[in-house]
Amino acid sequence: MALTAIPWQAAGAGGLVPKRRSSRAAGFAGTLSRLDLLAILTSAAARDVRGETTLASKPSFGRIDGKVALVTGGANGLGRAISTRLAEAGSLGLIVDRPAALAVFAPPADWLTFAADVRREADVHAAIARAVAHFGTLDIVVANAGVVPVWEETSAVDLAEWDETFAVNVRGVMATIKHAVPALKGHGGSIIALGSLNSWRAHPQQSAYTASKHAVLGIVRAAALDLGRFNIRVNAVGPGPVATDALLERMSRRASLGGPTVSEALRGHAEQTALRRMVTVDEVANTVLFLAGDLSSALTGLLIPIDAGLP
Ligand SMILES: NC(=O)c1ccc[n+]([C@@H]2O[C@H](COP(=O)([O-])OP(=O)(O)OC[C@H]3O[C@@H](n4cnc5c(N)ncnc54)[C@H](O)[C@@H]3O)[C@@H](O)[C@H]2O)c1
Repeated sequence: MALTAIPWQAAGAGGLVPKRRSSRAAGFAGTLSRLDLLAILTSAAARDVRGETTLASKPSFGRIDGKVALVTGGANGLGRAISTRLAEAGSLGLIVDRPAALAVFAPPADWLTFAADVRREADVHAAIARAVAHFGTLDIVVANAGVVPVWEETSAVDLAEWDETFAVNVRGVMATIKHAVPALKGHGGSIIALGSLNSWRAHPQQSAYTASKHAVLGIVRAAALDLGRFNIRVNAVGPGPVATDALLERMSRRASLGGPTVSEALRGHAEQTALRRMVTVDEVANTVLFLAGDLSSALTGLLIPIDAGLP
């Protein structure tokens, strides 16, 4: 008997069972003939359902050789660390950023840069088209570009600043994911958005940033449901405070306005965590690499906190 000739039928949460054994209990090995069991273990349909055909080969631990990545906001801070780590792990790619940021930035060897503003849909579309035209494909998309507005009491929120924050942090992320889909659809891929600890908790005077990062998580969850059938995974990382130049500048500005000194502010962040330290740019980049590659092949629609253990 050909093993694949057995007609399959759904058995609820139990998966597939051979049709002639209709009860869910028939899924237990003890009630199956050896041939039926062999069929369950080996037929392509059953292996598909169990997810065993998703990965072409065993995950290559931490390597993404030959993959092509696109990182928005990749000329500074976390985006720069992420593109560096993806390059070290074997990928090629394209870094999208504003012209001023790219003017003082050197990408990893054999990577391209593309000047674009993620607030503008046409720019995002053109950046993705450039990556595909040059490298022939696209596999990994990191929607990292983001801005942090000044702190404001809720009663004093500047709605122009609110719109600007949403234009980059929400519209920019949505445009990046939207225009990446045609490039990823044929072969699957991994999209990673930069959320924040503000994707699931709030801080006073940060309603615009907090709302924008909550929205990023909403986009990730919905897009994961839409795109999973194309083997496109969509996840987010949620870093706690990371001492990038951008964060240090904000701390310095607040210090000049009478707030805590930069060292006090850094120590304050560290003391709130279980590990009693802040997270590094490399630790964020490592988690993005994990989400980009096969080691995370069953993860989608998630936000991974990277916060050194915030209660
Ligand atoms: N640093 C942190 O503590 C921290 C924590 C959690 C989340 N994040 C998130 O990580 C991401 C990167 O943060 P960072 O600290 O590295 O910031 P950063 O300011 O150092 O880098 C952001 C990059 O995005 C680019 N960018 C901004 N607006 C853009 C636009 N309209 N079009 C194209 N590029 C644009 C900037 O030029 C810059 O290169 C952001 O989404 C931020 O919200 C940062």
